[in-house]
Amino acid sequence: MRTILLGPPGAGKGTQAQVLAQRAGVPQVATGDILRRAREEGTDLGRRAQSYMDRGELVPDEVMIGIIEQRLQEADAREGFVLDGFPRTVPQAEALGELLLGLGMPLDAVLALDVPEEVIVRRLAGRRTCPGCGRSYHVESDPPPADGRCQNCGRELVTRPDDRAETVRERLGVYRRQTEPLKEYYQARGLLRQVDGLGTVEEVTERLQSALGR
Ligand code: AP5
Repeated sequence: MRTILLGPPGAGKGTQAQVLAQRAGVPQVATGDILRRAREEGTDLGRRAQSYMDRGELVPDEVMIGIIEQRLQEADAREGFVLDGFPRTVPQAEALGELLLGLGMPLDAVLALDVPEEVIVRRLAGRRTCPGCGRSYHVESDPPPADGRCQNCGRELVTRPDDRAETVRERLGVYRRQTEPLKEYYQARGLLRQVDGLGTVEEVTERLQSALGR
């Protein structure tokens, strides 16, 4: 499986990418998680990305393209991958296309999750995230353990700084201006499958699987 999960912030890309990747036995490649890990580790990349992320803006294309070029050439991505959060701009999509052409690894499909804005705002306001392993919870639909610690790795759960209401508004604007045009880009290449992102996590997973023809 070589697929991209596209969608606005909070659409459920991370939640679904994790399930699809696990089922297919391929890595989930989540650029947001890569950047947050770099921040945690205090690397140059993490420091450079922080101000963009906190403002809800995109990290520059050349930085993100470099990260993906390296990641998709690692051994575990040879059999496939689920991309979550990349590409986010037309130049990123073009660079990805060239990379995959060179590696002889064409995309199977681009899955776009459709979720209305009022649902997104609710999902992000209730999200709690593990800074250790990146697992997301939701106070209503997927409540975290009572002690407020991650059930996978035991770290204390946090609210992501970019989930503040004003930053969410900025992220939604950035999505509409810079990322949504990718639907047209992939539609023109016969790869786009639009999927309703409402309903339970399991219902959405089943829709994604059938859009993939599995
Ligand atoms: P990133 O981490 O990629 O954030 P995002 O795209 O804004 O997506 P989110 O992680 O907020 O949401 P999601 O769609 O994964 O939803 P989730 O599954 O968690 O990027 C963060 C920042 O990094 C960017 O703003 C940018 O600065 C930078 N960046 C990253 N990639 C970049 C790139 N390529 N180029 C440039 N900059 C880049 O679900 C949300 C909540 O809803 C959770 O609480 C979950 O439990 C809940 N939920 C999920 N599904 C359901 C359901 N079906 N029903 C009820 N609740 C649900």
